[in-house]
Amino acid sequence: MKNFLWGSATASYQCEGGWKEGGRVESMWDKYLHENNLENGDVASDHYHRFREDIRMMKEGGQNSYRFSIAWPRIITDKEGHINEEGIDFYNEVIDTCLEYGIEPFVTIFHWDLPQYLEEAGGWLNRETAFAYVRFAQVCFKRFGDRVKLWTTFNEPRYFSFSGYLIGNYPPGHQNLQETVDSSYHIMLASAMTVKAFREGGYPGKIGIVHSFSPVYGVDDTAETFIAMRHAENFFNNWILDTAALGEIPGDLLKELSKQCSLSVIHPEDFKIIRNYTVDFLGLNYYARVVVKPYESGETTLIVNNKGKAAKGTSQTIIKNWFEQVRPMDSQYTEWDTEIFPQGLYEGIRRTWHKYHLPIYITENGIGLYEDASAEMIEDSQRISYMESHINALLNAKEEGCDVRGYFAWSPFDLYSWKNGMEKRYGMVAIDYEDGLKRKPKKSYYWYKEMIESEAGTIQRTYYKEG
Ligand code: BG6
Repeated sequence: MKNFLWGSATASYQCEGGWKEGGRVESMWDKYLHENNLENGDVASDHYHRFREDIRMMKEGGQNSYRFSIAWPRIITDKEGHINEEGIDFYNEVIDTCLEYGIEPFVTIFHWDLPQYLEEAGGWLNRETAFAYVRFAQVCFKRFGDRVKLWTTFNEPRYFSFSGYLIGNYPPGHQNLQETVDSSYHIMLASAMTVKAFREGGYPGKIGIVHSFSPVYGVDDTAETFIAMRHAENFFNNWILDTAALGEIPGDLLKELSKQCSLSVIHPEDFKIIRNYTVDFLGLNYYARVVVKPYESGETTLIVNNKGKAAKGTSQTIIKNWFEQVRPMDSQYTEWDTEIFPQGLYEGIRRTWHKYHLPIYITENGIGLYEDASAEMIEDSQRISYMESHINALLNAKEEGCDVRGYFAWSPFDLYSWKNGMEKRYGMVAIDYEDGLKRKPKKSYYWYKEMIESEAGTIQRTYYKEG
């Protein structure tokens, strides 16, 4: 598997901590979580102070790439665009440490921690935020672009705009379709403008986008189900992937949306940028598929389980007049209601490759579990079998000719899981929050190392039929 990236991924807010250090200003997540008295990432995994140890452990674990994000509030500290040199120094050290260890830095420019000063000016509802984002990205290219060769503009535009503006479980906590459309559009515009700035700046390397990928399945083969699937594909995937990779927003989606809200956010001149500045590659975060049936009744309902076993089975998605998500009874689920369905990764990669013909990186894949970090050895066999079955799915797609170039486990070590807090653990290294944030490799850490060193030779193979 020559040149294949085997790594793991984090996000600044979820792991760094040091929220008031090094000249960092407040982010919208700090404000929201503090104000609502919710579990926060003030300390998180303390990666801000321990990144050297963490990156060394990645290296010792056989990994050759680290996907991390840059905290905008560490880099640009006010609306006027002042650059915080301490923040630049921090990421210079992170990047240099990666390179010392022979680890390829794979950088996400934005993973949800918008500076609060921009949120107060309207956040992603304000077109100006898209321009501020491009200026921030340009600072990153100028200051880190001599060493970073793989960039992505946004992590999961759909997930954070829907969660913030439609579901309301992320900041700013609204439930408003018009705002969802406006914010989403500004994010995708910012992404295309940044690809333009990257190309025009002549920076070396490649730039992509990371999408929360949910391959859509139907309950049967009827025409009604096909229509529901098309709505679901537009809702979950197409408006990100078509816009970023093909330079077009699906026409039928715009038509449907125009029945329910205004599309005045779209300026005709934007299309020149969106059409001409598409991405070099796609990053897919895969956790689960979605199975849908035709819409039957009820108002639009979006319920996400952020409470784990206390709310198991309560998740629900109904989009009025479009589709309803169903939960296959014979499948397996995590305590947070995520279906475990590795075949969806195989089929999802195939669909994405055949539709867009762009290189693909699996930028996140992993399982959240309840674990006791004080145990001598965390025997996370469930994580091992989850990763093994998903890597097997990836290998199936790759062997069929899909251009998959990397796999990033979420996550290298335990970190803050947004509204799920700290108890939902994803790491291959445990962090004992009760005992000085001590790092302890779990069984999966050693399993991943061996798997990488054997070039996936230790993966128990099962073969899917070409679908
Ligand atoms: C992805 C995000 O949606 O999934 C990560 O990019 C996130 O930031 C991960 O942590 C797992 O989701 P959660 O909600 O279980 O932490």
